[in-house]
Amino acid sequence: MARAAACLRPVDRLTGPPWRGCDDVLMGFDVDRVRACYPALADGYAYLDGAAGTQLPNAVIDAMAGAYRAGLGNSGGAFPASRRSDEITAECRRAVADLTGGRPQGVILGPNMTTLTYRLARALAAGWGPGDEVVVTRLDHDANVRPWVQAASAVGAVVRWADVQLPEGDVPLASFRRLISDRTRLVAVTAASNLIGTRPDVAGIAALAHAAGALAYVDGVHATPHGTVDVRELGADLYATSAYKWSGPHVGAVVADPALLESLAPDKLAPAPAEVPDRFEQGTLAFADLAGVTAAVEHLASLAGPASGAGTRRERILAGLAAAEAHEQELFRVLLGGLDAMGHVTTYGKAARRTATAYFTVAGRTPRQVAEHLAGREVNVWDGDNYAWELTGALGLRETGGAVRAGLVHYNDRSDVERLLAAVAELGG
Ligand SMILES: Cc1ncc(COP(=O)(O)O)c(C=O)c1O
Repeated sequence: MARAAACLRPVDRLTGPPWRGCDDVLMGFDVDRVRACYPALADGYAYLDGAAGTQLPNAVIDAMAGAYRAGLGNSGGAFPASRRSDEITAECRRAVADLTGGRPQGVILGPNMTTLTYRLARALAAGWGPGDEVVVTRLDHDANVRPWVQAASAVGAVVRWADVQLPEGDVPLASFRRLISDRTRLVAVTAASNLIGTRPDVAGIAALAHAAGALAYVDGVHATPHGTVDVRELGADLYATSAYKWSGPHVGAVVADPALLESLAPDKLAPAPAEVPDRFEQGTLAFADLAGVTAAVEHLASLAGPASGAGTRRERILAGLAAAEAHEQELFRVLLGGLDAMGHVTTYGKAARRTATAYFTVAGRTPRQVAEHLAGREVNVWDGDNYAWELTGALGLRETGGAVRAGLVHYNDRSDVERLLAAVAELGG
């Protein structure tokens, strides 16, 4: 299929892009227009590995190259190149705040979610001691488990575990009612499982945490590209995300209430900035990448095409991610229906609310053998535990190499799904 549709840039909204016609857009998400933004997709592979990291649209690549071409300096200098870096940083905070419904002054930027979570766990645990408790789940990626387990252990606090209910693959609200008490200081929970897509009732869990005087640390790394996010509606005191999961470069961010950040004293160098959020950002930020993050947010804001109208960036992001979610869910029904219809395939997870992320095994093949077979058919999938260490244990898959993950993102199309299904069908009988 030709990929000739024009790539939407912010300027196109002013000059009028070559839309295919209003009816097309109202009838559905224009995936060909979206795919045309991504040069990497031209290699012909079906990129079903988006849950491990997405490809970059031209606008993001250009923004990063443009930042370097314009000249960057280190932060806080008296000359224009330094001021450009500081403006890129400020704009990136505004973009991530628009994406998540947070406030720019509460956006901590850094290399990735894992590093930032370790940093915050250490800062938060400085206020805990013996008798305090932390709640973690067996649904979460290990980056929202181990930093809390280790921080709790360092100060003598107790860890309480929310188990995964199977076969649904969810962490029910009722178990948090039993686990959370007035000793709880923090509840760490994912907004979506990176393995099986489950979207737990984060707002309900956070409300229980708040009623007990505890904080909610929400891992939004997998969830952010698959639907709209509002940190206040979620009740997330701290919300972590990673731009490389939503068409941006390798940058992590944690969004928090600036007042909460003011109450914490992270490790920092003596001459480093003392204000919030800068004091959480150890060392020099990757300024050009931050320009890419802002461009990635603009890309998400463009996804609904003209349906997103001329609203604020936040409004356009909400429209774009809602359109992306509807598109992904439609394809997911085809993907899951196809996999479940094959006798030699077992799929995992049945949560009522989940992202378009399939996790499956094939009888008689290791996950790596399946992934290699699919790679031979030009279909990219991930195999293994994907660092959802506790969950692969709960599913009984840890000792056998996990399973195969096929994760849809907004640039996947029907042919990607059909190619995966055809290649998996070859492994039957
Ligand atoms: C749900 C989830 N949380 C956390 C992480 C870790 O993110 P990062 O690579 O930014 O440290 C990942 C990465 O795959 C993830 O999928």
